[in-house]
Amino acid sequence: MSFLRLGVFAAAASAVAVAALGPPPPAAAQDVARGAAHYQLCAACHGDQGAGSEPRGAPAIAGLPGWYVDAQLRKFRSGQRGYAPDDETGLQMRPMATALRTDEDVASVAAYVARLPPAAPAPTLAGDATRGQALFAPCSACHGPDGGGNEALKGPRLAGQPDWYLLAQLVKFKSGARGAHKDDATGAQMRAMASTLVDERAMLDVVAYVRTLRAGEGAR
Ligand code: HEC
Ligand code: HEC
Repeated sequence: MSFLRLGVFAAAASAVAVAALGPPPPAAAQDVARGAAHYQLCAACHGDQGAGSEPRGAPAIAGLPGWYVDAQLRKFRSGQRGYAPDDETGLQMRPMATALRTDEDVASVAAYVARLPPAAPAPTLAGDATRGQALFAPCSACHGPDGGGNEALKGPRLAGQPDWYLLAQLVKFKSGARGAHKDDATGAQMRAMASTLVDERAMLDVVAYVRTLRAGEGAR
């Protein structure tokens, strides 16, 4: 009991000592600076401003929430994403994620990416947005009615993502090239949703509707 009290006292005393030295510089600012340095590697495929590159199959990552970027980088590192032999783009991204050595490296680059202004990609696919709006109704629970995402349900922002990337990911979820790893609980949820889109036409239509969404900055 007295040891415990002593411990509490010592902790309180050292907190006072730290406070006396003045507050440390904000961790977020340090992270972002470190993330900017790590981002040099990413820019080759995702672009200087994170707007993505269709020839490289690299999505827009600018403005994706930090929690989502962090989670996906961890999935690539652990093999929960980019595991399928026919997932060419996933297999290209995996070694990039493993090049980030520590959890701090991952967190810092995620913090940097989250601060880049979201992209507004040009349309490349044709679909029926009106039909897509009806198909999107169940999606909005996890991705937000404005496509801005929902952190509590781990649904990422979809607004601002190029249409070819959205389509490619829906195809991967449906085939099991993404979301089928046994430890990937959030991927499994999304797989179930992708399987409700009966054919490519339904996918093109829902993607055409997502393209019309303009999630506000607050949704990040
Ligand atoms: C060699 C090209 C290349 C480089 C370099 C690269 N990426 Fe990627 N990245 C990709 C591709 C291709 C994908 C799409 C994978 C897929 O189709 O599933 C991707 C996907 C991602 C995703 C998933 C986005 C989403 O919406 O789910 C994130 C996050 C990401 N990359 C972050 C990074 C970061 C951070 C770096 C730098 C450390 C980086 N990438 C470097 C090619 C690259
Ligand atoms: C139960 C919640 C939930 C619902 C409903 C849902 N999703 Fe998702 N979706 C997720 C989660 C979680 C992820 C991220 C999966 C991961 O962690 O890899 C995701 C990922 C995605 C991605 C990949 C985004 C990227 O940046 O790589 C697309 C595209 C997508 N969802 C579209 C849809 C569409 C279209 C619907 C409706 C047909 C839908 N989702 C319904 C939870 C959901």
